[in-house]
Amino acid sequence: MDVTGKTVLVTGSSRGIGLAVAHAFDQAGANVILHGRSPLSADLLKTFDKEPRVLNFDIADQEAVEATLTALYKEEDFAGIDILVNNAGITKDQIVMGMKPADFAQVINTNLTGTFNVTQPVFKKMIRQKSGLIINLSSVVGLMGNAGQANYAASKAGMIGLTKSLAKEGSKRHIRVNAIAPGMVVSDMTDALSEKTQEAILQEIPLGRFAQPEEIAQTALFLAANDYITGQTITVDGGLYI
Ligand SMILES: NC(=O)c1ccc[n+]([C@@H]2O[C@H](COP(=O)([O-])OP(=O)(O)OC[C@H]3O[C@@H](n4cnc5c(N)ncnc54)[C@H](OP(=O)(O)O)[C@@H]3O)[C@@H](O)[C@H]2O)c1
Repeated sequence: MDVTGKTVLVTGSSRGIGLAVAHAFDQAGANVILHGRSPLSADLLKTFDKEPRVLNFDIADQEAVEATLTALYKEEDFAGIDILVNNAGITKDQIVMGMKPADFAQVINTNLTGTFNVTQPVFKKMIRQKSGLIINLSSVVGLMGNAGQANYAASKAGMIGLTKSLAKEGSKRHIRVNAIAPGMVVSDMTDALSEKTQEAILQEIPLGRFAQPEEIAQTALFLAANDYITGQTITVDGGLYI
């Protein structure tokens, strides 16, 4: 797919990987719709070639998601979303012995159910458009599991199942659905880990470093460019899961 002039919604694009993905699509000539829970700063919007539109909602709040996207699609001059990047996500790490059920539920409700909440209304429109691309930000942890991240790993493994199912449901209407499974990426999410934890993880990464968000964004552009890939999970992890 040539992304020039295509409309791309990137959830959780106020910072980190989502912001890098949004910048990459903007630089490739797409029209970007940014998203976060709170309004984004004017300075951030100025970093884009074409001024992006911004949507604000909590992806875990199904009614808010539905209301915002329904209003967007009703706008007279709105041509539709060509590419959806489901990137918004959270962690609430704790070993299972100490994990509060509410923290398990919050991570599933945000990462997995939240992805469904945004995807469903967009996917319905893509089915009618007979075209579309969805990219889900899973994690290598969804493939390999991780002590202290049972909730997060379950949510990210769920996103892989969702990706494959959507790819099967969308294929006849030319909708491709893929996932990216990053390893460790420099962002607020990994900055929150203690130095000791970051150092221990670094020892496990064969390429000896965390990824830059731009390296994940490149993968999203690659998945957009190649029209013959669907239902796949592309691992970008410096060899962590060899
Ligand atoms: N960093 C890594 O090493 C890594 C590795 C593998 C996978 N991933 C995945 O990649 C994605 C991005 O990670 P990141 O490191 O860039 O995270 P980040 O820096 O913490 O940014 C998270 C983004 O998600 C948004 N968000 C969080 N909860 C939301 C909610 N309930 N509703 C709407 N927006 C919400 C945040 O928006 P606000 O501005 O509203 O907070 C922010 O834009 C996540 O899905 C993460 O699981 C990250």
